[in-house]
Amino acid sequence: MIALSDNDAKDGLNMKVIVDTPEGIAKQAAAIYQEILKDKPNAVLGFATGSTPLDLYAQLIKLYEAGEISFKDVTTFNLDEYVGLEPTHDQSYRYFMDTNLFTHIDLDPARVHIPSGIDTDAATLAAYDEAIAEAGGIDMQLLGIGCNGHIGFNEPGTPLESLTHVVELTQNTREVNARFFDSLDDVPTHAATMGIKTVMNARKLLLIALGESKAEAVYQTIKGPVSSACPASVLQLHPDAVVFLDEAAASKL
Ligand code: F6R
Repeated sequence: MIALSDNDAKDGLNMKVIVDTPEGIAKQAAAIYQEILKDKPNAVLGFATGSTPLDLYAQLIKLYEAGEISFKDVTTFNLDEYVGLEPTHDQSYRYFMDTNLFTHIDLDPARVHIPSGIDTDAATLAAYDEAIAEAGGIDMQLLGIGCNGHIGFNEPGTPLESLTHVVELTQNTREVNARFFDSLDDVPTHAATMGIKTVMNARKLLLIALGESKAEAVYQTIKGPVSSACPASVLQLHPDAVVFLDEAAASKL
């Protein structure tokens, strides 16, 4: 483990950047969940989908099966959902979370929250932020990062003050995610996502980036200006953001 920058030279940069192998990252990140749940068994956890967290989720399941972690009293909020996909659709993020984590651990399904991809009227979107606030706020939000610097589905240009809203996915994001669908045409054009402010309101952020395709976005996130051109750069302003990178994702730093 190499700590690249813990309080970097830049004013206000509190990001802790750790470079490790993907396996090491999964283990270190899972250990952070253990710590949080030891202190607060009823923590509110924000989860993410995509390829990046899969090793971490496998590690959390392993720890649960070994009796080393419990999600019994945990409440969860996921970042986003594709508009138009029913929860039962095999590419919905609800289905992803059930398959890759939720059904393998002792989480109470009644305390799981994922934005609806079906009801996307303004009141339903606002209710998502209200539910987070009612739960006491998110203790730790897990994040992946898009090749264009998106967090959640907050694409470049999204206002930093945004709350949960519907976004139009960029062509690039749809192409990158087409690997999970039969064809590009099947990839939804819109998603409901926590806003950048919703994410920033979490008490701790844990971003994981793996692979060369993320290297430029990682560079802009850590070394670039805070700008909606790279939504993840806003992490520089967060008081407690931990960034795990593999060598390839860290290669431009
Ligand atoms: C997923 C999400 C996205 C992904 C990002 C990276 O809930 O909000 O921001 O984290 O697109 O995706 P992967 O991990 O597939 O490279």
